[in-house]
Amino acid sequence: MSVVAKDIIGRRAGAFIDTKEHRRFVEFAKAVRENRYIGLCYGAAGVSKTLSARHYANWPAVESLLCDWGLRERSTGKMLAAMNRSRTLFYTPAVSISARILNRDIHRLLAAATACIRPHNERARLECSFNHMEMVIVDEAERLSAPALEFLRDLFDRSNIGLILIGMVGIDKRLARYLQLYSRIGFAHPYRPLQGNELTFVLARHWRELGLCLNGADFADAQAIAAVTRITGGNFRLIHRLFVQIERLMDINHLTEITDDVVNAARRMLVIGTAN
Ligand SMILES: Nc1ncnc2c1ncn2[C@@H]1O[C@H](COP(=O)(O)OP(=O)(O)OP(=O)(O)O)[C@@H](O)[C@H]1O
Ligand SMILES: [Mg+2]
Repeated sequence: MSVVAKDIIGRRAGAFIDTKEHRRFVEFAKAVRENRYIGLCYGAAGVSKTLSARHYANWPAVESLLCDWGLRERSTGKMLAAMNRSRTLFYTPAVSISARILNRDIHRLLAAATACIRPHNERARLECSFNHMEMVIVDEAERLSAPALEFLRDLFDRSNIGLILIGMVGIDKRLARYLQLYSRIGFAHPYRPLQGNELTFVLARHWRELGLCLNGADFADAQAIAAVTRITGGNFRLIHRLFVQIERLMDINHLTEITDDVVNAARRMLVIGTAN
C-alpha cells in the first residue's frame, strides 16, 4: 500500500509553508472535487507538488490510520474526524506497479477510509461503499502503465469521485495518447516554483532557522538572495538542499553571515541538480 515515506518526508522537509502556489493547488483541487472531473497537476521536480497534495488531503494526519490497520483500534477520534473532513485519498504508486496491485491498493484504501468515515456519518451506512469518498490523488502518475491508467479511468467512471493525477512537466503529452482518459481531464494545473516576495519570505525563514535575520535593504543580504534565486530558480527542494550546505559551511567556518560567497561555495558542494 502507499506507505510513502512519512518519516522520510518528515526528515527532509521542515514545517509546511502555506504558499500562494499551494493555495492555487487547493483551488484547483476544489474545482476537480466539486465537478468530479479528472485533474492533471504537473510541474518540475521539487516545486512542492507532493507536499501540497499531501497537505490538501490532510494525509499526514490520516495516513497511519489507513495504511496500518493495526492502528485502527487505537486511532483517536481526531484522526477519524480528519478523515471525515478530508474525504481524500493520497496514493503514490510503486515503480512499475501493475494494474492488479493498483486496483488492490486503491480498493483497500477506499474501504479503510469508508470504515473510518462511517462512525462519523450514520447515513453513510446506507450508502454504497465508496460514495462518501470525494477524491483520489495519485502522485507520480508517470509510473502508471496503460492498464493501470485504464483501471483509474474505470474507477472514475464507476464512482462519483474526483481524480487528480500528479506528474512531471510533459505528462500531459504522455496522457494524450490515452484518448478516453484524456478526454475526461477537466482541469490542468501547472505547479510553479516560488517567485518574488514569496521566495524572499521563504528565504527569510531559512535565515531565521540559522539564527539570522534577513534584511532585503542590506546590500550583502540582497546579493545573497540574488545568488540563491539564480541557483535554485525558486525550487523548494533545491533551496532546502542549498541551505543544508550553507548551514554546514557556516558551522565548519564559524561564519555569522550568509553572503553570496557562502551561497556560491554551498552551491559548489551540491553535486547535481542545480539550475545553473
Ligand atoms: N510548502 C512547503 N513548505 C516547506 N517545504 C516545502 C514545501 N513544499 C516543498 N517543500 C520542500 O521541497 C521538497 C520537495 O517537495 P516535493 O517533494 O513536494 O516536490 P515535488 O514537486 O513533488 O517533486 P518531485 O516531482 O521530484 O516528486 C520537500 O521535501 C520539502 O523539503
Ligand atoms: Mg513529488
